[in-house]
Amino acid sequence: MATIRGALIGCGFFAQNQMHGWADIEGVDIVAICDRDRGRLDATGERFGIAKRYQDAGQMLAGEQLDFVDIATTAPTHRMLVEMAASRGLAVICQKPFALSMGDAEAMVRACEAAGPPLMVHENFRWQTPIQLVRAQIDKGLIGRPFFGRFSFRSGFDVFSGQPYLAQGQRFIIEDLGIHILDIARFIMGDATSLACRTMRINPRIKGEDVATMLLGHGDATSIVDCSYATRLAVEPFPQTLMEVDGDEGSIRLTEGYQLTVHGQGGTQVVDASPILLPWAQRPWHNIQESVRAIQQHWVDCLRSGREPQTSGRDDLKTLRLVEAAYESAGRGTVVDVRG
Ligand SMILES: NC(=O)c1ccc[n+]([C@@H]2O[C@H](COP(=O)([O-])OP(=O)(O)OC[C@H]3O[C@@H](n4cnc5c(N)ncnc54)[C@H](O)[C@@H]3O)[C@@H](O)[C@H]2O)c1
Repeated sequence: MATIRGALIGCGFFAQNQMHGWADIEGVDIVAICDRDRGRLDATGERFGIAKRYQDAGQMLAGEQLDFVDIATTAPTHRMLVEMAASRGLAVICQKPFALSMGDAEAMVRACEAAGPPLMVHENFRWQTPIQLVRAQIDKGLIGRPFFGRFSFRSGFDVFSGQPYLAQGQRFIIEDLGIHILDIARFIMGDATSLACRTMRINPRIKGEDVATMLLGHGDATSIVDCSYATRLAVEPFPQTLMEVDGDEGSIRLTEGYQLTVHGQGGTQVVDASPILLPWAQRPWHNIQESVRAIQQHWVDCLRSGREPQTSGRDDLKTLRLVEAAYESAGRGTVVDVRG
């Protein structure tokens, strides 16, 4: 089995998890890394034993023999970097949010499809152990046909200390966090057909919205996606997504502490759906960290088999469409048709 050779662009806060994930996966080698910031580049290079370090992505892509590029920068640089990688015929993973406009997202998908090799958005939340377990119960038919879902992420966790840029944008929770929860809603309930949203800003020290409540139609099923970084709870659940799914033959509840209750015709089962604490992970991030390894394993499996990744660039256009629809709905007070 030939080793797959990758390179990382962006050695910031979240890329550390991606580098640990790659180190855990057999048959992948991150041969070079790049960051404009020398300090971050060297710190990551030392931590993961990578000698080939570049401050310029173009020089790295020109100088290295690669199979794929892992882009872990923030959204404003994605289009330039994705198109640069596509022009060299490389497969690409790109962090979420994939783009800040549908136009940029569509252009990146077109560039990669014209080049040939796959493009996947690093949409890791659906790869969390508890979320995979919920989907597996539905696939086994334990609750019948889902007609209602609630996907809820409510927290008072200080995300701004690790990611200070989150406090500065006009858009915050839908674009940064809601995008994951909308992807989960699609994963569990199927593609959406309509969306209505209300937003609020509770924290006066940030610019964007920190509360968003969305009502989605999925054909004849309905879901609610509710997100808040302004919710102070007795037990801080960060970064858990809690879920309710009602089917015509039963129900699923994923509650705080990763407790999964499945009730159906066969009775009631309560399962511990806790993620594994990987050796390099830290609580409470371990749920997300495990999902990083899982999505990267999926990427490697797809590269080897030629299958399209679950959250390919083309698939992610549907999630981004929901993000745009949420802002549109909140701004105008209307329900947005998201079919097509
Ligand atoms: N999936 C998740 O659970 C999750 C969690 C946190 C962050 N993220 C996403 O990860 C992305 C990165 O976030 P972060 O908090 O790590 O950001 P960050 O600012 O800490 O890191 C980004 C790094 O990219 C570098 N960079 C930017 N442009 C570059 C260029 N053209 N060439 C080389 N280096 C460049 C910067 O110098 C910086 O070191 C964001 O899109 C964010 O939404 C995802």
